[in-house]
Amino acid sequence: MLKLNKDSVLGTFVIITGFCLVCSVLVSSAVVALDPFKAAAVANDRQVSILRVAGVETQGTVAQTYAAHIEAQLLDTTTGKIAADRQSEADGYNFASNASNPDLSVAIPAEEDIAGIRRHSTLMPIYFAKDADGNVTRVILPFYGAALWSTAYGYVAVGMDGNTIEAVTFYQHGETPGLGGEIDNPRWQALWVGKKIENADGELAFTIKKNAAHEGEQAAYEVDALSGATLTTNGIRHAAQYWLGTVYKPFLDQLRKGEFLK
Ligand SMILES: Cc1cc2nc3c(=O)[nH]c(=O)nc-3n(C[C@H](O)[C@H](O)[C@H](O)COP(=O)(O)O)c2cc1C
Repeated sequence: MLKLNKDSVLGTFVIITGFCLVCSVLVSSAVVALDPFKAAAVANDRQVSILRVAGVETQGTVAQTYAAHIEAQLLDTTTGKIAADRQSEADGYNFASNASNPDLSVAIPAEEDIAGIRRHSTLMPIYFAKDADGNVTRVILPFYGAALWSTAYGYVAVGMDGNTIEAVTFYQHGETPGLGGEIDNPRWQALWVGKKIENADGELAFTIKKNAAHEGEQAAYEVDALSGATLTTNGIRHAAQYWLGTVYKPFLDQLRKGEFLK
């Protein structure tokens, strides 16, 4: 049998190649083995965010609280109706990846695309939050849009009048910490609470702006922009206005008429 001289060029090459192969197998195995843990962590994060805007305190584990208080449904954004036959797919439905699949998404006309996202999933998961007696208290709507450096993804909770923002949170973005990243600041998110989406004439009135009104009629609709982060806040304003004023409007109109109260 041929004996390999490990000090030769060929020997060095064979040893390095072998070492690389072993390492790549180890790294790939670790990625595959850790995948279920990653998926569980993502699901847990999603549930924590949804419970936060649902205003539900965790009792026991996050998963137990979530199961007791949150009902996921799929909303057909082309009709504004719940796709009840698809409910089993609703929880954690991957609307973000659907947006790049023409069969599963709708194109947004350029003049409507203020959120800068081009397409969105035809079906969107929405989450009904329930109190201890099973009464629906809020509906949690995912929304997203182009901010300064990244697409920012969040949840907005709307009261059963279909017009009052009860809470907001962002679960994914790449904005600069201390500047655009302040969209995560609970004190800024608290400014959204109680704001109205539409005015008495049924026109979209919610906005985020510098020097927002703190008294008078407009105060009901306006949230102060983050200072030093005008560009991020512009993106968030456009995302909120697009999803609440266009995509979810037919659904919110039903909520405003008292449907879904049970
Ligand atoms: C390194 C760096 C990072 C920045 N990150 C952000 C950001 O995440 N969001 C943002 O709106 N502005 C960011 N800015 C600032 C913008 O360029 C711009 O000055 C700011 O949005 C204007 O806000 P203002 O009108 O409230 O001052 C960043 C600037 C620098 C130099």
